[in-house]
Amino acid sequence: MPSHSDLTDGQLKEIVQWILSLKDTSTAPAGGTGAKKYDYALKDGKTITLDFPLFIEGSNQKVTKDVFRGYLLFNSYCYRCHGTDATESELGPNLRHSLEVGMTSRQFLAVAMPGREEKGMPSWAGFLSEEEMDHIYAYVKGRSLGLVEVGRPPSEIE
Ligand code: HEC
Repeated sequence: MPSHSDLTDGQLKEIVQWILSLKDTSTAPAGGTGAKKYDYALKDGKTITLDFPLFIEGSNQKVTKDVFRGYLLFNSYCYRCHGTDATESELGPNLRHSLEVGMTSRQFLAVAMPGREEKGMPSWAGFLSEEEMDHIYAYVKGRSLGLVEVGRPPSEIE
């Protein structure tokens, strides 16, 4: 770290003020203040807030394109061990339960991409993208909340 004896007091003051001005942004909520939130009423009367939409606006029936893609991907690649429509199976854990007890999309990616080969969970990195994995997460989240039913969900695609 070199010394800056050539800087004037005025310049030093400016630098200090600039550093202090950073404080506000560092305490801002993650994701910025404009991050959109989506509220859904659960069957038990509680309301849940998600940072992604499950249903298209103005409908509590038709799922978004992303959730529908998640449904298709899940039932192509994950159903074998995690049960059709994330119901249940003897070959893998109940993912609805994993999300119910708080697994975030980050944590979901952190297991699903590398897999746990020694425990029978294959790796999906290089085969599915992170975006596709997020679609799967969104679908399983809708299922775990009881908002997306078993079977092919009605969607904005059809
Ligand atoms: C060949 C069977 C198999 C397939 C296919 C499979 N899984 Fe798994 N998965 C497992 C097993 C077994 C575990 C439990 C591993 C352990 O004990 O830690 C697991 C665990 C997980 C977990 C961690 C759950 C938790 O609560 O810790 C996630 C997330 C997951 N799988 C996502 C997926 C996704 C997404 C797909 C489809 C893209 C998929 N899995 C496909 C067998 C499978």
